[in-house]
Amino acid sequence: MTAKTILCRAQQAAVGLGGRFLRWPRPVCITGPGSLRRLPALLREAGVKKPLIVASRRQLADPSFAAVAEGLGEYVTFSDVPANPPVETVEAVAALYRRSGCDGFVAIGGGSPMDAAKAAAARIARPDRTVAQMGGLMKVGRTIPPFIAVPTTAGTGSETTMAAVVTGADHHKYALGDLHLIPRYAILDPALTVSLPPDITAQTGMDALTHAVEAYCNRFYNTNQTRRLAEAAAADIFRYLPIACENGADLEAREKLLTASFHAGCAFTRAGVGNVHAIAHTLGGLYGVGHGLANAVLLPVVLRDYGAAVTPRLSRLAQCAGIRGGAAGFVDAIFAMNEKLGIPRGFSCIREEDIPRMTAWADAEANPAYPVPVIYDRARFAQIIRQIRQE
Ligand SMILES: [Fe+2]
Repeated sequence: MTAKTILCRAQQAAVGLGGRFLRWPRPVCITGPGSLRRLPALLREAGVKKPLIVASRRQLADPSFAAVAEGLGEYVTFSDVPANPPVETVEAVAALYRRSGCDGFVAIGGGSPMDAAKAAAARIARPDRTVAQMGGLMKVGRTIPPFIAVPTTAGTGSETTMAAVVTGADHHKYALGDLHLIPRYAILDPALTVSLPPDITAQTGMDALTHAVEAYCNRFYNTNQTRRLAEAAAADIFRYLPIACENGADLEAREKLLTASFHAGCAFTRAGVGNVHAIAHTLGGLYGVGHGLANAVLLPVVLRDYGAAVTPRLSRLAQCAGIRGGAAGFVDAIFAMNEKLGIPRGFSCIREEDIPRMTAWADAEANPAYPVPVIYDRARFAQIIRQIRQE
């Protein structure tokens, strides 16, 4: 064991112990087809008179939103959040919030609008700190305005997590992680996800699977509850993701995936993600690769690389998901699902000259923050990146 591994493990053990004494809030969850209609009542309950609604133009024009807009009274909208949202977007959201005299946030969309709005809410709570200064763990430290998250993809879990991932200078993605960033309410309305095309359904679903599996394989931070949530999420994603990709209108599959994504989010906000996410963030930041797509490609490659260190955990997950062949069968099943869902084996955008920067970022993100089953050094990160680099 290297000195670096010993230091990382000592810090993770201490953080894991400290985590047992924290209060981990969960959003109040409203579920079911049509549950978006509860939005005006929830805003009233939270005392919000003028929310800032962060959502795409398409979402704001959707009949599902038009149906609730009448009951909202006064509100302001922001709809210019790009994928992998940059800090400038966060600042623009926060500036609009202040300028308009808003008193609460509603984020409707995938991870990008939710994370941009969460980071903006952090800026409102901490006008004395820049977004970059709040990067890392527990740097917000103050209550944010009332926040309602409405996911329209079943993947990021941002509606229940303490994380907001943003892209800073030099294309570097990093996360703000603070218990104050856990939304107060989450509306899980499967009707909002039925129009998602199969490729986005597949990629976001694989993001959720990655959350469940990375959290489950991590050391120190898991509890019985996070393990149960991750097991249930993994089993449901294996069962329902192919169904939802084949028939997007299958409301039962959509609802199961939304719940699985929420549960995987609950698991990883406590137990952490791992090396898959650390590398995926470099692909998103540098090349704009979709977060779920990057995770989908990396997940089976990294799990295979972990080898014996994850055998018992993956065997258990395989059992929960009804997959034969133990840990190896589980990894094979991920490769097979990727293939079935049209997810590639690698990326041609990765440039050899970028690999040192990518490994430095991944190393800085994962170590010591993520209690991964195997601690990677830069050389091992590079090995994984080269395995998914296609000519
Ligand atoms: Fe993720």
